[in-house]
Amino acid sequence: MKTEVDSPIRSTFLPFALPSIGDEEIQEVSDSLRSGWITTGPKTKKFEEQFRRFVNAKHAIAVSSCTAGLHIALTALNIGVGDEVIVPTLTFCSTANVVEHLGARPILVDVDENFEISLEATEKAITCRTKAVVPVHYAGQACDMDAINTLAAKHGLSVIEDAAHAAGSEYKGKKIGTHSKATVFSFYATKNMTTGEGGIITTNDDQLAERMQILSLHGMNRDAWKRYSAASSWYYDVVEPGYKNNMTDIQASLGLHQLRRLEGFIRRRRQIALRYQTAFKDLSELILPRDLLRRPHPYHLFPIRLRPELLAINRDQFIVNLTSRNIGSSVHFIPVHRHSYYAQKYHYRREDFPVAEQIFSGLISLPLYPAMSDCDADDVLNAVTNIVTSHRRQHSVQTAQKDVRAETHTQTLAATSRYSR
Ligand SMILES: Cc1ncc(COP(=O)(O)O)c(C=O)c1O
Repeated sequence: MKTEVDSPIRSTFLPFALPSIGDEEIQEVSDSLRSGWITTGPKTKKFEEQFRRFVNAKHAIAVSSCTAGLHIALTALNIGVGDEVIVPTLTFCSTANVVEHLGARPILVDVDENFEISLEATEKAITCRTKAVVPVHYAGQACDMDAINTLAAKHGLSVIEDAAHAAGSEYKGKKIGTHSKATVFSFYATKNMTTGEGGIITTNDDQLAERMQILSLHGMNRDAWKRYSAASSWYYDVVEPGYKNNMTDIQASLGLHQLRRLEGFIRRRRQIALRYQTAFKDLSELILPRDLLRRPHPYHLFPIRLRPELLAINRDQFIVNLTSRNIGSSVHFIPVHRHSYYAQKYHYRREDFPVAEQIFSGLISLPLYPAMSDCDADDVLNAVTNIVTSHRRQHSVQTAQKDVRAETHTQTLAATSRYSR
């Protein structure tokens, strides 16, 4: 017999993430399709201009993804064979992959308890071959850019920010987008704002911007995208072998409206996060994300960490329990040093990344996105609370008793748990 403990909290599955696409986005995309200008064109340029203003940068270059943008930015800094680039291990694989694509070596370093690249580990990893460091604004919360820039300046390194999660984030009262040589954002479907697939690079460096623009479209000289318009000529010159990483007007159509809605999206993300924070504050089995001083958390992710010493189930079992309650979840991220390519090529050992390993062992990202209703959020927090209270280590009646009636189970918990809620 299924007990309440096992039964779905809701009748339909709550996906881990869903975009919020409104009628205006749909109309704008239709308008592009009808206009005949479906690749890079006036809307991409308009989107670049609006995003540039939004983060108060001198330049913005819209690209096909954050991955492409990181690749372009590192290429424009002339990073290549023999060079080293320092990357935190707790990131999506593409932060490191792009360094490999350039023939350079990604040097993976540990993170700190705030999920940020460890400054201590970064300083230790610097050699005479190190050219750049790529901090990742994990879950959208800004890294300590002053500290990173000071360290980088001391060693003559460039800083390129992986701001995949950080559209709309702030550091010391200024939007992320101008705190380093170049900042690269993602507009992938799950991100703070989306263009389906897409990204943008922002910079205050004129020369770098010029080169990144050229690299994003075959290495053609500036404004080559205009060559099919009345305003331009058919002639273009290829000044270096660039890439095909341009954003299309179809994507930019989404971006124009998503950008307008971004601050509202973040407000809603923070409301849901507050709901979770309030509900979980007495669950000592969980470590919750924190808002850091002058780095307001946009909650691109809500990563909880399980404390294995207090729970009778591990992270993987916790996720199975969430799924059985119809709640989606994810893990951000499998540390890069654990992936076979990197582990085999560079002989990384897990013990070299104690903090990332510790975080990863209990890490779960809960659903948190503006399209969620308060009821959806309550389903998530009830499911989490329910799983935690059902699997407390101190609980004398362990999970073997899952088949007892839900009511009896709840009473037993209240009687035996060391933790009051
Ligand atoms: C930290 C981080 N960096 C880079 C990327 C790559 O973004 P994109 O899919 O736009 O290439 C992601 C995507 O999830 C990410 O999470």
